[in-house]
Amino acid sequence: MVWRIVALLLAALFAVQPAVAQEVLDTDPNFLAPSKDPKRMANGLAVTPPMGWNSWNKFACNVNEQVIRATADAIAANGMRQAGYEYVVIDDCWHGSRDANGFITEDRQRFPSGLKALGDYIHAKGLKFGIYSDAGTKTCGGRPGSQGHEYQDAIQYARWGVDYLKYDWCSTGVRNAEEAYATMADALKASGRNILFSLCEWGNSRPWLWASKIGNMWRTTGDITDKWVGRHGHSWGVASIVDMNEPLWPYAGPGHWNDPDMLEVGNGGLTDAEYRAHFSLWALMAAPLIAGNDVATMSQATRDILLNREVIAVDQDTLGQQGHRVSRDGTSEVWVKPMADGGRVLLLWNRGEAPARITAEWTALGLPASVRLKARDLWAHRDLGRLAGRYAAEVAPHGVVMVRLLP
Ligand code: GLA
Repeated sequence: MVWRIVALLLAALFAVQPAVAQEVLDTDPNFLAPSKDPKRMANGLAVTPPMGWNSWNKFACNVNEQVIRATADAIAANGMRQAGYEYVVIDDCWHGSRDANGFITEDRQRFPSGLKALGDYIHAKGLKFGIYSDAGTKTCGGRPGSQGHEYQDAIQYARWGVDYLKYDWCSTGVRNAEEAYATMADALKASGRNILFSLCEWGNSRPWLWASKIGNMWRTTGDITDKWVGRHGHSWGVASIVDMNEPLWPYAGPGHWNDPDMLEVGNGGLTDAEYRAHFSLWALMAAPLIAGNDVATMSQATRDILLNREVIAVDQDTLGQQGHRVSRDGTSEVWVKPMADGGRVLLLWNRGEAPARITAEWTALGLPASVRLKARDLWAHRDLGRLAGRYAAEVAPHGVVMVRLLP
């Protein structure tokens, strides 16, 4: 009997979630339950954060049929598909011109077999097919945009078997973002194919306030670049992107996610410790995991990061709550993500240049100090036994330690 009461008390304590920012309550009275209600979702897709690959970070405008086929082959063969990477997305520069009736065509120099055949190839590998367009007159790479052709473009994508559209924001002039994205969302619905909709307007008009019924993910920042921190022209280093995306945690939930941009893991600009931090933070923030490297030629070290299933499971947790920072002491940070099983994932992040000992107190994670929890290190793949009160570890410069606490 006493044990039953203790168990019930513990269950109640685990159910307590971190406090919600007042701004959220002001703007979205329904937030408190990150809802799985289909009426609050755009299209029933992306119940957990989308996973896949996109051509931009590695190949930029140099896309063609061979690159996309080789990528699909690799994802189907190297364990990525089994780990959950699903969408193969061609970013900018696949476009040819519009035909006499205004329908968009593919660039036949780069895609001689056409996008219908490429989509069939990707589907035959057990994967899904993604594409890119823009709400303005031109894409960021100067190809034809969808403005004024939204319904025709959606029909064309459906004919090609497209499953995912990333929709950019270049050359939009004075266009209103909510109107522009809602128009394309309506066009996709009218196409008869259920297409995941990824908004890419860089967070300019705060899509987290209005896009949850329009699309499945929205960029919260400018472009990522393969550097650790800082602004580099129009792009931002990984740690800077994290700081812009973190405060938006209350807005993410099943069907609609904050998107801090695609992964740079494996592109060569960072150390493996930094790439592990990058991947861990994306998982902790329930971000879409869209690989952006050459997966056909990646090293074993890169593969070990992208295929860490224990970290992927943090990202894909069905509670769908974005984790966030709970404390910061100089360059030492503690983050937490509540999990569907009532447990927590904690992340110790050392942003400094020297090794640091970082401590996560249970109370800061929303747990009673006295509770003893089974713990597992998700990068060492090692059980840590049962812990009470706190967890402390030495963390390498720019590195992380990620621990799952099980109820
Ligand atoms: C913008 C987007 C990028 C990429 C390029 C393509 O910069 O934010 O993610 O799609 O355009 O030109």
